[in-house]
Amino acid sequence: MLRTQIAGFALAVVLLTVGMCFLTAGFRRGAEVRPGLLIAGGLALLVCLPAAYALAFVLAREIRRLTTAVEEVSRGQLDVEVPASVGELGALAKAFAAMVTDLKAKAALEAAIAAKSSALPGAPPAAGKQPLAHLPDGLQVGTVFASRYAVIAQLGEGGMGTVYRVLDKELDDEVALKLLKPAPPQESSSTPRSGPTGELLRQEIKLARMVTHVNVVRVHDFGEDEGVRYFTMEYVPGTTLRELLDRRPILDLAPTLQIAKQVCRGLGAVHRAGIVHGDLKPQNVMVVGNGVVKLMDFGVARTRSALSKGEPLAGTPAYMSPEQARSAELDERSDLYSTGILMFELFTGRCPFVGDDAYETMRMHLDEPAPNPRTFRPELPDALAQIILSCLDKSRLRRPASAADLERLLIRIRA
Ligand SMILES: Nc1ncnc2c1ncn2[C@@H]1O[C@H](COP(=O)(O)OP(=O)(O)OP(=O)(O)O)[C@@H](O)[C@H]1O
Ligand SMILES: [Mg+2]
Repeated sequence: MLRTQIAGFALAVVLLTVGMCFLTAGFRRGAEVRPGLLIAGGLALLVCLPAAYALAFVLAREIRRLTTAVEEVSRGQLDVEVPASVGELGALAKAFAAMVTDLKAKAALEAAIAAKSSALPGAPPAAGKQPLAHLPDGLQVGTVFASRYAVIAQLGEGGMGTVYRVLDKELDDEVALKLLKPAPPQESSSTPRSGPTGELLRQEIKLARMVTHVNVVRVHDFGEDEGVRYFTMEYVPGTTLRELLDRRPILDLAPTLQIAKQVCRGLGAVHRAGIVHGDLKPQNVMVVGNGVVKLMDFGVARTRSALSKGEPLAGTPAYMSPEQARSAELDERSDLYSTGILMFELFTGRCPFVGDDAYETMRMHLDEPAPNPRTFRPELPDALAQIILSCLDKSRLRRPASAADLERLLIRIRA
């Protein structure tokens, strides 16, 4: 770029000089050339040449500094000084500085996860450590379930069932297998953690399969074997946000913002498929070692159309929206409320509403104003606290309109 500029400038000087020669030729022939004119032209050249050189020099220096910064970042050195230039170069430098900030946040997030990686569920056993041969009340390691899934390890247990890391012998690929607890005799709208019935579950899995996004756990198959219903999904070699928070209740601002923005992106994809997640909580967010966040478990989600028929959603009281607490119709903004609670916990280390029991917690969601997150962590930027509080508005009309809108607001916060 610089060479082109200098070459262009040199050409301009040559053209100018030649042009002046032609212009003054008549005068010179007629011996009527005004010496003043020639002197002025010469002076103009004398001023323009050094000025152009100085400009090119300044530009070259800025470009050199930016190039050095890019080279250092490509070598993994993130503590670089990005020149604050103006014009097009300034815009480029600004974009690069934003990228470096993101890379730093990602590196901090990876470090936070690495601190926990030795205890990852499902991680390959450390040398000398044997996997459990017998798992209590569940599948044994080494057994083959549904003539297809060879059990490698138990990953965990939740309200709906038990999750295993298995080898899908047909696809020769590792997946996560969730065996579901038997369905309740009839679905009860007032029991928050009831298991879904067969038909409802089939519907949920069909919906979940529609979502393909890096920030959402891919759902594969649904089936039943000897009366046990199950579904398979992408195996995520990571940790849940719950486990991360239990270990480090307060993370730095930058990695936490990275997590929150990825939750928004995943949620956006879920919503675009017409699904309300309905059970967003740290247990249902996986974080991979490289800092990628993945939403999972659409176990209580329903389509918008089903919601419009007034079907209530189950959920987890601490993360439940006011409309969910009163079994009213939900929409995407109900998930944004849960995202607000999740962010509140991520940024402050505690949930805003913690009652003595589930019903007291639900009442707080309905009646009590959310505390300002800065009460618990004063160094949080006020703009961030306001974003969290806007998600926690009792009226969904005053919450951000979509996950994309929320992400846009979070992008403006600089750690
Ligand atoms: N796809 C997956 N890949 C890797 N680990 C998983 C996967 N799904 C679940 N797990 C692990 O299994 C554990 C149990 O998950 P599960 O969804 O059953 O429980 P939960 O989220 O605590 O409760 P809920 O029933 O409300 O969803 C998780 O905490 C996680 O550690
Ligand atoms: Mg779960």
